[in-house]
Amino acid sequence: MTLATTPTVDALLGNYKRAAVDFVAGDGVYLIDADGKRYLDFVSGIAVNALGYGDEGLRAALHTAADGLIHVSNLYATPAGEQLAATLVELSFASKAFFCNSGAEANEGAFKFARRWARTRGDMKHEIFALRGSFHGRLFGTLAATDRPSYRLPFRPLAPGISIVERDIEDLAIALSPETAAAVILEPIQGEGGVRMLDAGFVRELRALTKERDVALIFDEIQCGLGRTGTLFAYEHFGIEPDMLTLAKPIAGGLPMGAVLVTEEIASTIKPGDHGTTFGGGPFVTSIANYVVGRLSDPELLRAVAQNGEWLGKQLNEIAHRTGRIRAVRGLGYIWGIDVMGTAAHVVAEAFSAGLLTCSAGDYTVRLLPPLVATRDELALGLQLLEEIL
Ligand SMILES: Cc1ncc(COP(=O)(O)O)c(C=O)c1O
Repeated sequence: MTLATTPTVDALLGNYKRAAVDFVAGDGVYLIDADGKRYLDFVSGIAVNALGYGDEGLRAALHTAADGLIHVSNLYATPAGEQLAATLVELSFASKAFFCNSGAEANEGAFKFARRWARTRGDMKHEIFALRGSFHGRLFGTLAATDRPSYRLPFRPLAPGISIVERDIEDLAIALSPETAAAVILEPIQGEGGVRMLDAGFVRELRALTKERDVALIFDEIQCGLGRTGTLFAYEHFGIEPDMLTLAKPIAGGLPMGAVLVTEEIASTIKPGDHGTTFGGGPFVTSIANYVVGRLSDPELLRAVAQNGEWLGKQLNEIAHRTGRIRAVRGLGYIWGIDVMGTAAHVVAEAFSAGLLTCSAGDYTVRLLPPLVATRDELALGLQLLEEIL
């Protein structure tokens, strides 16, 4: 844990608590620090580095894209972006795609599209609802849809017209007035909230309720989408389709990018000038996303994530049984949360020392997000380290 170069001034804003490690390289599912120590990475840059490190195809795509245009602005067409939109639409429920630069920005865009559409159904339809335990981002609109008091309280007043409701169909039935409700946003698997998959029956009831009340249903798949659950989109596990879906994290191989997928009905209400962003959907980033989405939608990769994920769940439950140090195991595919005795931060720090990168999701949940290319042997090694620590 030594820094390669030591700056003379501590000039970064203090909004992150970063580990004092200097990662200088990556190799498959490992990050390597300046001293040459290798860390098995079960964080993946918080669900971003789905292809791990040093992926040959990604490197080639980056070189090719670097020889082309980086940016032209949204005043002009971008073939790579049009191709990416066509691919995402073909692979999903959606008929149009919008591109931006981050997860929070994708959700903010979805909120605007929801309001734009909803106002065509009634002048008063504007309210947006998010669920208890949700995390949708740190900008003002998305912060109002994020259920973490410590993130929210210092920044009040938050954006009006956005509120949190219980994960309970009866509460939602009271909250969703057909005259005033525009949208409900949910994470099918709440990531920051502790890796909690929503109950499939509840989600199906909510789909029926939102259809009945003419309310848009937005799936935030920023953390759990694009293969992490063993299907390309997490909504596929629930037997329903949303009206909008947001993506970000892994979509462009670590470059900043977000996307909103929308139905034809909502798309038809969006006109030029309704929304925009300077960098969104530029030629460089969308060229890379075309490569990444191609890889992450490969049925073979998805099958491996699903099968290894099932195995991973069984192993974690066995570790819980053997060690007596885990209170609960939740997840699927390559997204898992384990509730530990003591604090998650303590386990994360011990794992770090042992050369295993994990992160927390709340005070008591350790989250595992291996790269989607991690093999069963690599997963087994991580589990072995985890068990030793526990
Ligand atoms: C489910 C979910 N939504 C939204 C976001 C916000 O994404 P970003 O940090 O790119 O703004 C995150 C980030 O962790 C997330 O996990």
